[in-house]
Amino acid sequence: MKVLVAGGAGFIGSHFAERLLAAGEEVVILDKLTYAGNEANLPEGAAFHRGDVAVQEDLEAIGAVDAVVNFAAESHVDRSILGPAEFVRTDVLGALALVQHARGLGIRLVQVSTDEVYGDVSAPAREDATLRPSSPYSASKAGGDLQVLAAVRTFGANACITRGSNTYGPRQYPEKLIPLFVTNALDGEPLPLYGDGRQVRDWLHVDDHCAAIELVLREGVSGQVYNAGGDDERENRDVAERIIELTAADHSLLRRVEDRPGHDRRYSLDSSKLRSLGWRPRRRFDEGLAETVAWYRANRAWWEPLKSGEYRAYYERQYADRLR
Ligand code: NAD
Ligand code: TYD
Repeated sequence: MKVLVAGGAGFIGSHFAERLLAAGEEVVILDKLTYAGNEANLPEGAAFHRGDVAVQEDLEAIGAVDAVVNFAAESHVDRSILGPAEFVRTDVLGALALVQHARGLGIRLVQVSTDEVYGDVSAPAREDATLRPSSPYSASKAGGDLQVLAAVRTFGANACITRGSNTYGPRQYPEKLIPLFVTNALDGEPLPLYGDGRQVRDWLHVDDHCAAIELVLREGVSGQVYNAGGDDERENRDVAERIIELTAADHSLLRRVEDRPGHDRRYSLDSSKLRSLGWRPRRRFDEGLAETVAWYRANRAWWEPLKSGEYRAYYERQYADRLR
């Protein structure tokens, strides 16, 4: 198979591209290289096109492929609060352009979505739960999902959706909780914990997330949604404590700061549908987090250059007042 991996220069997409190459598939990556995209993430053996998923000509320039998997997104909740419009463009219009492109080629699209579309939950959400997105990010992802499902129903597109939970592992851009706290701890910088730190996320190792997406690509039924949760729910304050231990950082670095507006208390997924196809998360959080910390410790050359320029401006905007 020749697979188009959109967003393959980002965190999860680059791991997925590596996985397909290891399985003997051909991979073409399309990525706009936004602040979150990184040429250093591109796996050896993948063809690369720089381009925008929301631009028809950029999709056409790639030529024939056998399947498309869409990771391309604006993906950070805090940035969506600072500026939502780009999220609508890439996450909604990009998903729409890709599903139409795949339909034109007569090939399958897997749309990579998120547990955040269900919003705050008190019990594990199934795929048929009502969508109640809270942030501009999750609202945009939900919009993308709905366009994909509408294209299946109305135009006969062949498409599936995966909804993974909070993902962690090597090569995650240092703006999300785990890579931000790990790199700050290694640098002796504060760890800004929002609100009471008792929000719950269900942590999924990137390898397990990619295994779920590969299974849906190969065996999913068109028009179906598949949840993929890590089954490892933790409060943020416990994740922060564990990172402090693993990095041997000073405990005084942990700082309670003003909460994120609209902050969801808990995400939790019922993944029994995907489990019935044989998938389950294999990496437990304690072990996966220790390996991830070891990776960031050993790969300063990957993340140090990212923490300057645009990142510094974002960081100031997001945290300067909170940490004062
Ligand atoms: P990321 O931010 O690391 O990577 C996104 C990639 O998309 C970057 O390489 C970026 O350059 C590219 N991109 C952005 N806009 C583009 C555009 N218009 N055209 C082409 N490329 C564009 O994100 P990630 O964490 O790897 O997430 C990948 C996907 O998985 C996203 O769709 C996200 O919603 C979803 N997801 C992420 C998580 C998580 O915890 N990280 C959990 C569940 C689902
Ligand atoms: P994040 O990694 O942004 O993922 P998401 O919001 O998509 O789940 O955040 C994970 C959790 O960590 C979330 O409850 C917000 C919290 N958080 C902090 O407490 N401080 C921070 O600096 C960041 C980035 C997140």
